[in-house]
Amino acid sequence: MADNIGNKAAHDYHLDIAPVQDGFYVKGAAHCDWGMKNRLAKIFQPKSGNTVMLAFDHGYIMGPTAGLERIDLVVPPLAPYVDVLMGTKGVIRSCVSPASPTATCVRVTYDTTVLFDEMSNGGGIACDIENAIRMNADCMAVQTFIGAPGESRSLELLARTADAGTRYGIPTLGVVAVGKQMERTEKFFQLATRVLAENGANIVKSYYCEGFERVAAACPVPIVIAGGKKLPELEALEMAYRAINEGAHGVDMGRNIFQSDSPEGMAAAIGKVVHEGYTAKQAYEVYEEIKNSK
Ligand code: R5P
Repeated sequence: MADNIGNKAAHDYHLDIAPVQDGFYVKGAAHCDWGMKNRLAKIFQPKSGNTVMLAFDHGYIMGPTAGLERIDLVVPPLAPYVDVLMGTKGVIRSCVSPASPTATCVRVTYDTTVLFDEMSNGGGIACDIENAIRMNADCMAVQTFIGAPGESRSLELLARTADAGTRYGIPTLGVVAVGKQMERTEKFFQLATRVLAENGANIVKSYYCEGFERVAAACPVPIVIAGGKKLPELEALEMAYRAINEGAHGVDMGRNIFQSDSPEGMAAAIGKVVHEGYTAKQAYEVYEEIKNSK
């Protein structure tokens, strides 16, 4: 193990130099196989290089979350506005049409529910690679607990999922958890995102923070930002705008879309920021237009 005392502070991020790309537009994927690239191209639009993922996996630990009580009614109308539907195998099977052209990201790990105060010890596999293949998943999501009791177990699940995904051409999304024990600093997110990428994640889901451009620069695969708790619509759009402009390759957003008074308006507005370079204010107009048309 490398000595962790008296190390030089990292500072050479070369923010003025674009990431070294070699033949494929998704960051870090140039040397992957065709099937993996094909799935990544369904996730990240070739034109923008970015993605909008709709997260509706909350019920796997929270039960019927506000806005997702009737998940069968909420998710299908949003599918045309996003690139990826991210949920558990149970909800994707029961509530998403197999004829939907939108890509899917299956959450493949389970965890302790909100009935427990403590952070998870790392969880376990809820959807194995065979099941993910049978569902024709375009991505597999694994929750990780960096700096918390479940760290080691969750990294093992991530590494094993990424190995299986590499074998069959399915990308792995490593999710950075934030809990009571975890900091929400640039230093923490730098460490967590890099650790997930080094252990095989093809995409990392993390949080926007001050200094995000250095977090993104030091992560060799694309980062998509989590939405977090519901914010006023303009604030959520501003966060997405800043993240994209500081190196994120998309968002994986849940409550800020499905808890909005216009979920379709928010999904469309987020898409404008992520794919078309709209400012938050321009995108907010799109949200209002759709909201007022209903
Ligand atoms: C994050 O760990 C999980 O994927 C969540 O269930 C989900 O992503 C949360 O999304 P949001 O914070 O945008 O509601």
